[in-house]
Amino acid sequence: IARSRSRSSSSTYVCARAYSSDSVPERKVAVLGAAGGIGQPLALLMKLNPLVSKLSLYDIAGTPGVAADVSHINTRSEVCGYAGEEHLGKALEGADVVIIPAGVPRKPGMTRDDLFNINAGIVKSLCTAIAKYCPHALVNMISNPVNSTVPIAAEVFKKAGTYDEKRLFGVTTLDVVRAKTFYAGKANVNVAEVNVPVIGGHAGITILPLFSQATPKANLSDEDIKALTKRTQDGGTEVVEAKAGKGSATLSMAYAGAIFADACLKGLNGVPDVVECSYVQSNVTELPFFASKVRLGKNGVEEVLGLGPLSDYEKETLESLKPELLSSIEKGIKFANQS
Ligand code: NAD
Ligand code: LMR
Repeated sequence: IARSRSRSSSSTYVCARAYSSDSVPERKVAVLGAAGGIGQPLALLMKLNPLVSKLSLYDIAGTPGVAADVSHINTRSEVCGYAGEEHLGKALEGADVVIIPAGVPRKPGMTRDDLFNINAGIVKSLCTAIAKYCPHALVNMISNPVNSTVPIAAEVFKKAGTYDEKRLFGVTTLDVVRAKTFYAGKANVNVAEVNVPVIGGHAGITILPLFSQATPKANLSDEDIKALTKRTQDGGTEVVEAKAGKGSATLSMAYAGAIFADACLKGLNGVPDVVECSYVQSNVTELPFFASKVRLGKNGVEEVLGLGPLSDYEKETLESLKPELLSSIEKGIKFANQS
């Protein structure tokens, strides 16, 4: 059944309903930062996802236009665009999944941690609103530095009394997407069949692809594995430098973000054996947050899976990433509790 309802005013919202589907559960997905470089293609990809019945696009400006544009696509979801903080509550109410790509991206020469001063405050205020308007939503954190923004979100939710560690995810899917692409190229295998877990965090040396567990198996030399590891760790910087001041990965990130959100929705809908890598509260190492394979279910994280057997090189690299990751976690916690 096609129904059409369109409403707009200069800075508020446009809502347009498309098709109803009786057999798939209703699911509202909100994208915060939806008018940005990641937000726009992510909005497009979420509009193509048949598991979404309501797509809520929020940004400080520009979202009514993005929403009007995306809403003309003849797929299931109703699309609403909200611009300005006064509409944030409406954008979030009833959301099952909230995806956050709001914040500034890197320029050449910057680390992800250089974004902390601006993005920490943005994430803190958005998470405060999530705690108020949709405390049970699964939160997919994309804004950098992910190693710190996820602990910030956790602290904000703890203070609000809404924290559920099963519902907070740092999106590290782009590291997996890159590891798969680079491995397939080197091993000369079909990328569609490749699997590579990526553990640790999401910045430089904290990103640890486990090529010893990659499938299909390939006989790569130690030098090849080291080069693939380095390229995966530097994948974001490769894009930042190629874009030469015009931002960081947006299209591949939107693809990765859409894969992860789809996995969350499948888990919520009870699809069995949905496993993705994600940066979550964890006890697989001594660090309080850590990325590893996670089984997704009706409440979010169903199980944080162990690391499996590591090569000597991976064991060493894991030990060497821990101090940096811990200090990023502590920085996030300190910020959330100070300000
Ligand atoms: P962008 O500047 O193109 O877009 C960011 C958007 O956020 C803008 O539209 C801006 O208006 C919006 N925004 C700013 N403050 C906001 C607020 N308070 N509420 C809502 N929206 C707000 O940047 P981008 O390229 O889309 O990147 C966004 C973030 O994602 C950056 O921090 C970047 O480092 C990060 N990122 C993460 C990964 C990952 O793998 N996790 C990959 C790529 C980029
Ligand atoms: C990425 O991995 O592409 C993102 O974290 C963006 C960046 O700054 O590298």
